[in-house]
Amino acid sequence: QLDGGVTIVVLGASGDLAKKKTYPALFKLFKNGFLPEKTHIVGYARTKMNHDEYIQRISQYIKVNGAKALYKTLQWVPDNQAMKKQLEDFLAITSYQSGQYDQDEGFQNLDAYISKFETDSGFKDSSKHRIFYMALPPSVFVPVAKGLKKNAYSANSINRLVVEKPFGMDSESSNNLARELGALFREEEIYRIDHYLGKEMVKNLMTIRFANVFFGQIWDRRNIDNVQITFKEPFGTEGRGGYFDEFGIIRDVIQNHLLQVLSLIAMERPISTDAEAIRDEKVKVLKCISPIELEDALLGQYVGDGDKPGYLEDDSLKNKESVTPTFAALTMFIDNERWEGVPFILKAGKALDQAKVEIRIQFRNVSGNLFKDTPRNELVLRVQPSEAVYVKMNNKHPGLSFQTIQSELDLTYNRRYSEMSIPDAYEALILDVLRGDHSNFVRDDELDAAWKIFTPLLHKIDNEKVQPKPYKYGSRGPEELDDFIRKYGYDRTGSQSYVWPIQS
Ligand code: BG6
Repeated sequence: QLDGGVTIVVLGASGDLAKKKTYPALFKLFKNGFLPEKTHIVGYARTKMNHDEYIQRISQYIKVNGAKALYKTLQWVPDNQAMKKQLEDFLAITSYQSGQYDQDEGFQNLDAYISKFETDSGFKDSSKHRIFYMALPPSVFVPVAKGLKKNAYSANSINRLVVEKPFGMDSESSNNLARELGALFREEEIYRIDHYLGKEMVKNLMTIRFANVFFGQIWDRRNIDNVQITFKEPFGTEGRGGYFDEFGIIRDVIQNHLLQVLSLIAMERPISTDAEAIRDEKVKVLKCISPIELEDALLGQYVGDGDKPGYLEDDSLKNKESVTPTFAALTMFIDNERWEGVPFILKAGKALDQAKVEIRIQFRNVSGNLFKDTPRNELVLRVQPSEAVYVKMNNKHPGLSFQTIQSELDLTYNRRYSEMSIPDAYEALILDVLRGDHSNFVRDDELDAAWKIFTPLLHKIDNEKVQPKPYKYGSRGPEELDDFIRKYGYDRTGSQSYVWPIQS
């Protein structure tokens, strides 16, 4: 696809996202030989930096063989020659240009800079490909896209624009953004990142569903009682209070990451693995979900515990009376033949008891069961940490006993696939951009369908200042949580029996 060569422009190169995710992912792709041979990476941001300062900044999170590479006072620490060489080769293809986000001049300079590289490298007119990766705050999405289109667009080659959430605050603002970007770049040029789509276990959902005869057969309301998708983080919003308070946990994590997971669990079988075929099915299933009702929502906000500060005590938070939820459990129903009546419970929270993202599919009770008190079957996919798939099943107690016990068919990745390394989500997604594969990116109509499910609820929460329930920093969430989940039929019996072996 990107024959000839490519320039990857990282806009917002001095920011957090670029430093923590974009550059480390680019380095890994480079190291493993996945960047096209003639690749040039140009950082662009407002900050004035010289080459050394730039390198120091972007290499902070780069790891070689698990160890962080530190570039201090212009020296590599540790002084490992192999590592040094890899990094130096990578850094040799990156450089930095500073410029404003809302003035033509900066983008014109950028264009001239890239053009010089393209000419020096002998690129043909039809292979001056450019990827614009916007690691930027949403306030400058449109001005930057305008500046790029007007001044740095490669007329006869491939241009790709990578954008990252937040895509608006509700249906209206998201549609406005889509319209403004759509006036500048064609939909096939736009790659909207939802980094959950780059996670190994999320990508595995389609394989599990459509490549296994036994799961395919039972994937419906007749067999599945409820589905839970859980996101837990053990830390609060410390230092991010400004951003977070405007968005809250529903916009930050549920409307995008967890809903994407839901759509892959619930969609019909696509006609092929082609990006548009997959995205068509995702849109269809999202359109079958009615807007969430307030009574199907449980909202929470963490309070301090011991030396752990509550949300309202966060220094970066301006509004000390904020009612922004830092926890939410939302139940959705899909009104179609396959899923009618099956609750999909999406839960996410900051400052909880552990770090975990998990999909739990609970099956119905066995009908006419011969055995007493056997717990329900469950299929659990652990997205992170330590990827795993396991099925909870009932087994005869080994030996002379005729009792049943619950056991597990366990596929823990780092035991079964101990030799393989799992790429970071950003690595997988940037590679998709290079390959022109849209499967793991969010299409405009998908975004619209997603916002329609959440907008009425979000407006209600914002307008009525719905009070979140307090929960302690480091707890499982508000104490109302268990009752909330039980209300939708989730049966906790047996679920405590298995302690998952986590190895990292
Ligand atoms: C981001 C959210 O999109 O996802 C963060 O803005 C959240 O609040 C993060 O912490 C979680 O991503 P991951 O990959 O660490 O699960």
